[in-house]
Amino acid sequence: MLSVVGMNDDAAGPTPSTAPVQLVRADDVTKSYSAGQRRIEILHGVSLDVRAGELCAVMGPSGSGKSTLLYCLAGLEKPTTGSVSLLGEPTHRLSRAAAARMRRTRVGFVFQAYNLVPTLTAYENVALPHRLAGTRPPHEVIMSTLARVGLDRLAQSRPVVMSGGEQQRVALARVMAQRPEVVFADEPTGALDRTTGNTVLDELDRMARGEGRCVLMVTHDPTVAARCDRVLFLRDGYLVEEVARPTAIEVADLLTELTRLDALSGAQGRS
Ligand SMILES: Nc1ncnc2c1ncn2[C@@H]1O[C@H](COP(=O)(O)OP(=O)(O)O)[C@@H](O)[C@H]1O
Ligand SMILES: [Mg+2]
Repeated sequence: MLSVVGMNDDAAGPTPSTAPVQLVRADDVTKSYSAGQRRIEILHGVSLDVRAGELCAVMGPSGSGKSTLLYCLAGLEKPTTGSVSLLGEPTHRLSRAAAARMRRTRVGFVFQAYNLVPTLTAYENVALPHRLAGTRPPHEVIMSTLARVGLDRLAQSRPVVMSGGEQQRVALARVMAQRPEVVFADEPTGALDRTTGNTVLDELDRMARGEGRCVLMVTHDPTVAARCDRVLFLRDGYLVEEVARPTAIEVADLLTELTRLDALSGAQGRS
């Protein structure tokens, strides 16, 4: 798997000689927020890595810190302590400009709430990362990317007239057209039916395993997690389990157990 680094058929992608094997790395990452006098600890010493060619999932009960972890890994939030490296570069050492450049071109994020620009059409939203990077994507690239997620007929529509699932697929198409080496996706199939969810998964799978990029996605769906190389389980901000190539049943059992423990500790906390 690790030898599948680079995209031999596309000069725009990572190449075998330059792509580091560990594309994402977290060392002892904590994240806390202050709420009045109190500090709320969200992540507790999370360490992980995601390698080129890997499709990985993060799972855990609601509120366990999955989105916060993705934001910290993607450089959208600063860890309180610990460090994150993206594409071999410790993010805290990057200048603001270099960090912004990396986010625009080499790191893609599919947000849980899609984060489409409401005044732009689907086509313009998909072209946006290119525009921000100062390049003009070929028309065929944008249209074929929209077609891959079944949305070419909505190219000229704005998000307001689209369903949640359609907006979710535009958000994915935006990252696909950007062609970053690292893709973070926060519940990318959350608003989709099984068939369109599978189309989206096929695309994420292709980007990771087919093209030597890496994908780290949050999901609640055991059948989605069962397609991944590794599944990382968070509970209450701790990385408590990591399972390689699990079955959907194994994932469902682990999630049930974590959710049960979560409910138990919540009940103790309240008693
Ligand atoms: N900016 C913030 N300020 C304070 N608390 C936050 C902030 N962002 C997230 N949280 C809290 O952190 C916890 C984890 O949130 P999140 O990472 O969104 O969990 P998940 O994605 O697993 O549902 C939640 O209790 C949430 O309320
Ligand atoms: Mg979340």
